Amino acid sequence: MNFELKRLDLATAAAEKCDALLVLVSGDSCAGKDALSVLVDQALKAGDLETKPGKLLQVYRAPGLACTRAVLLGAGDGSAKQVRQAVAAGVAAIKSSSVKRLAICFADAPTDDGVRAALLAVTEASYVYTTTKSKPEGRTLNRVVVGVANVAARKPQFERAVAAVKGIEYAKEWANRPANYATPTLLATAAKALAKYPRVDCSVLGPKEVAKLKMGSFMAVAQGSDEPLRFIVLRYHGAAKAQAPTVLVGKGITFDSGGISLKPGADMDEMKFDMSGAASVLGVFRALAELQPAINVVGLIPACENLPNGRAVKPSDVVTSMSGQTIEILNTDAEGRLVLCDALSYAERFKPRAVIDIATLTGACMIALGGVRSGMFSTSEELATALLAAGDCALDPCWRLPLDEEYAEGIKTNFADVANVGARAGGAITAAKFLQRFATKYDWAHLDIAGTAWKSGPAKGATGRPVGLLLDYLLAQTPSK
Ligand code: BES
Ligand code: MN
Ligand code: ZN
Repeated sequence: MNFELKRLDLATAAAEKCDALLVLVSGDSCAGKDALSVLVDQALKAGDLETKPGKLLQVYRAPGLACTRAVLLGAGDGSAKQVRQAVAAGVAAIKSSSVKRLAICFADAPTDDGVRAALLAVTEASYVYTTTKSKPEGRTLNRVVVGVANVAARKPQFERAVAAVKGIEYAKEWANRPANYATPTLLATAAKALAKYPRVDCSVLGPKEVAKLKMGSFMAVAQGSDEPLRFIVLRYHGAAKAQAPTVLVGKGITFDSGGISLKPGADMDEMKFDMSGAASVLGVFRALAELQPAINVVGLIPACENLPNGRAVKPSDVVTSMSGQTIEILNTDAEGRLVLCDALSYAERFKPRAVIDIATLTGACMIALGGVRSGMFSTSEELATALLAAGDCALDPCWRLPLDEEYAEGIKTNFADVANVGARAGGAITAAKFLQRFATKYDWAHLDIAGTAWKSGPAKGATGRPVGLLLDYLLAQTPSK
């Protein structure tokens, strides 16, 4: 899809040739004398257009307008959230018609966040998964023009928004793929494909190299599947070598059956999304490749399947992690923390400024926060504050949960340094406490995206979260170009 930022007010938007024109309206009148301004003003005065987000009025081949359809949209207070709601409703209204070229204009000047929200909503609402359809009917929309008064002033934020959209769509694509189309090996291929962009490098470790690193915990999860594990190392170097990188660690369980602690059958297909953390790392790198910001970032993805074959790890097995700590595996379904802990140890070698892991880690986090906010844990006040702010700004919010030492009581055991599960209560926090033992050498945050990475039901599919949050967090380190 193509995006263009263009100088448009309502008068010039009226002359813009396109299949559909979305007009966002948040004020209660429109002063211009051109056909579109008059239309908006009359609709407002007659009460046929309300500015509440979600309210809309459609017109077809209206005199004085070059577009085929115009959709007047209530944009509420013009905030990012309400613009997103408005645009989503607008795109839904024209979805049945084959709109190829779409233009969006604002009757009242939007914020930069409003412009980004409009782009996110258009791409979100028009997204179609096609990879494993025999007759792929993709999205018809191929060109989006966004009209603003001052193109030069809006350009940097617009470019960020376009990069975010590309990153989000890349993450969605990989998270949505069925498990047999997104094996650890295929994930590694996707990561390697990103190395064709400037400043991006990728190396991939297989079972032999991982054994040499003594990642006994990661290997224990992988050993129940015939599909070989991969440990993916992505690097983006946009700043001087001396500048410490941020390390992102994405859980890459390409299918989570639970292992010997087998999950129930209902909805087990959704465990193909258990590599959504990994997909978000790929998505962030796709966006960095696009934007080329002056920062250093490392992406680590421990990728494997969690399956129960004859060699699979069993409840009661004790394994030795890369850190040297021994782990008693009491439940093979708590595998995410087992692959992440070794990646967190590996992250030490980069002397990072911060490490953030991203994981569909616990059903408990989904129960606690639902699908609105991701769970966030951090050992650094500064990092926690920055992640909260980035999430709110990107409309990809998170919420901080505690790390009190008392929560670690449940993972004590007589047979190893730590157990991989505690009691059911507070399960998202015990999981975080487990990870914290391996993240002692740097500032660390953990994002539990079990509730936010995908949607269930008829609209089942990946959301691309938290690519938006992570990108905002990373770019806040640079003055905007
Ligand atoms: N991938 C799951 C977490 C999950 C479950 C995410 C449902 C989204 C929806 C994870 O590997 C898992 O199975 N966690 C267990 C941990 C338990 C055994 C302590 C869980 O949450 O039930
Ligand atoms: Mn599991
Ligand atoms: Zn899992």
